[in-house]
Amino acid sequence: MPTHVAIIMDGNGRWAQARGLPRMMGHRAGVEALKKTLRLCNDWGIKALTAYAFSTENWSRPGDEVSFLMTLFERVLQKELDSLEKEKVRIRFLGDLEALPKRLQRLINEATERTALNKGIHFNVCTNYGGRRELVQAAKKLAERSANGEIDPSLIDEHVFSAELLTAGEVDPDLLIRTSGENRISNFLLWQLAYAEIHVTEVLWPDFDAAALKQALIDYQSRCRRFGGLKTTVSDSNEIIS
Ligand code: FPP
Repeated sequence: MPTHVAIIMDGNGRWAQARGLPRMMGHRAGVEALKKTLRLCNDWGIKALTAYAFSTENWSRPGDEVSFLMTLFERVLQKELDSLEKEKVRIRFLGDLEALPKRLQRLINEATERTALNKGIHFNVCTNYGGRRELVQAAKKLAERSANGEIDPSLIDEHVFSAELLTAGEVDPDLLIRTSGENRISNFLLWQLAYAEIHVTEVLWPDFDAAALKQALIDYQSRCRRFGGLKTTVSDSNEIIS
């Protein structure tokens, strides 16, 4: 089983449009799919789930859709916090949170604090998140620490760099799932996905269910992870993989 699963939840709008519904209904149905997925991952022993809820580029959507999403995040947090606590979920929001509405920021702080010591699945919600922005912020912090004399630039390695990312302390995702058939990373976890296996499914996010998650896990289990090295099976031990 993967330790850490990352998900790009795509296709909410298309799901709604296919039913003659407003796009917002797709986002609402998307929340239900996310709740189910979180519960299944927790039950099946996956240690971390990171979901892409709102990217730095999503602000360019129509104003009513953006405000619907912000209100949806608030409502979901208010409504689900008790059950998240009960299920021992540790929730964190990754992204530039200061640009979010103040009410949402307060709810995020409350949820983060109340669940910080929980021992169940780590649930990371990427909100106003952009992979490039995260990398630039990490580079800036390291540059500042170097300029202050806090850190010797020659000692900056991959380990030191990852500790400056929003995912610090989390193992990198083993599996990335993207729904709705798009073969793109879309500025998601650019550093952390370096060696992730990628599973793209045609299923639209609101339709993502236990069968679709099982399919993704079976696909993951069929992969031979090489991390740039050699195949590990004995029969293929002489094969050089680039
Ligand atoms: C992509 O579908 C989906 C989003 C931009 C929003 C995802 C957010 C949720 C499912 C809600 C999560 C809630 C919480 C509290 C974490 P799209 O609109 O890009 O679909 P399309 O490509 O078909 O237009």
